[in-house]
Amino acid sequence: MLEVTGLTAGYHGGTVLHGLDLSVPAGTVHAVVGHNGAGKTTLVHSVAGLLRPGAGTVRLGGRDVTGLPAHRIARAGIGLVPQGRRVFAGLTVAEHLRLSHRPPPSGGASRPSVWTPARVLELLPRLGERRGHRGASLSGGEQQMLALARALLASPSVLLLDEPTEGLAPALVQQVYDLVTTLAGEGIAVLLVSPSPAQAIRCADRLTVLTSGRAVLRSDGDQARADPTALNAALELAPAKG
Ligand SMILES: Nc1ncnc2c1ncn2[C@@H]1O[C@H](COP(=O)(O)OP(=O)(O)O)[C@@H](O)[C@H]1O
Ligand SMILES: [Mg+2]
Repeated sequence: MLEVTGLTAGYHGGTVLHGLDLSVPAGTVHAVVGHNGAGKTTLVHSVAGLLRPGAGTVRLGGRDVTGLPAHRIARAGIGLVPQGRRVFAGLTVAEHLRLSHRPPPSGGASRPSVWTPARVLELLPRLGERRGHRGASLSGGEQQMLALARALLASPSVLLLDEPTEGLAPALVQQVYDLVTTLAGEGIAVLLVSPSPAQAIRCADRLTVLTSGRAVLRSDGDQARADPTALNAALELAPAKG
């Protein structure tokens, strides 16, 4: 569903991603694990159209979307749950849901599943209990659910999750990974980035270790769960920075 080839991206200060290849079939979770500063957010932003790649291609269901502006990439079916959630402090949960609801073009024939506010609240009942509350008064976990709800309401084929469990209590961390598994079960292709290999292996079908913008290890999820030694070693060898 999502296919990234030879992706190179960076900022005025220099190149961050050096020719990354990555694919995420429909209904699977691909976890990219790397330390702070490895280039995880740069990858996610390049796929989502928030950063223009210097080279390489991003394909969605075979369609080349490289370099399109973010709103067109979103409309094509790539949903982003950004690092830090980015919910609006002054808007209520209900207002977020209403503003984020974007029925897919042509009735969603090409989307794995079509989401409405009612359906999102079935999946995330806590948001229903908090529907009149403003973003600023939500807990970190509730904000994360809201950020996920917002992305789902465009009925994406691909979900990009940038450190969705950052700062959450352990019980909520498990809830987020359970949700990720449920969404992949709906046929969504999930690209999840995380600094934690222990967390990433909970739901990943495929894993890539990213070090200084390069894939230094690729692994099958089952293989990493059975023996995480190689995964952990690849990260230990990687210098932490930033
Ligand atoms: N907006 C920016 N301008 C310049 N450099 C940036 C910007 N965002 C990130 N960087 C640099 O790019 C590198 C990768 O950052 P990032 O993709 O945010 O890593 P991660 O998400 O893995 O922590 C870091 O060295 C960081 O300092
Ligand atoms: Mg980041």
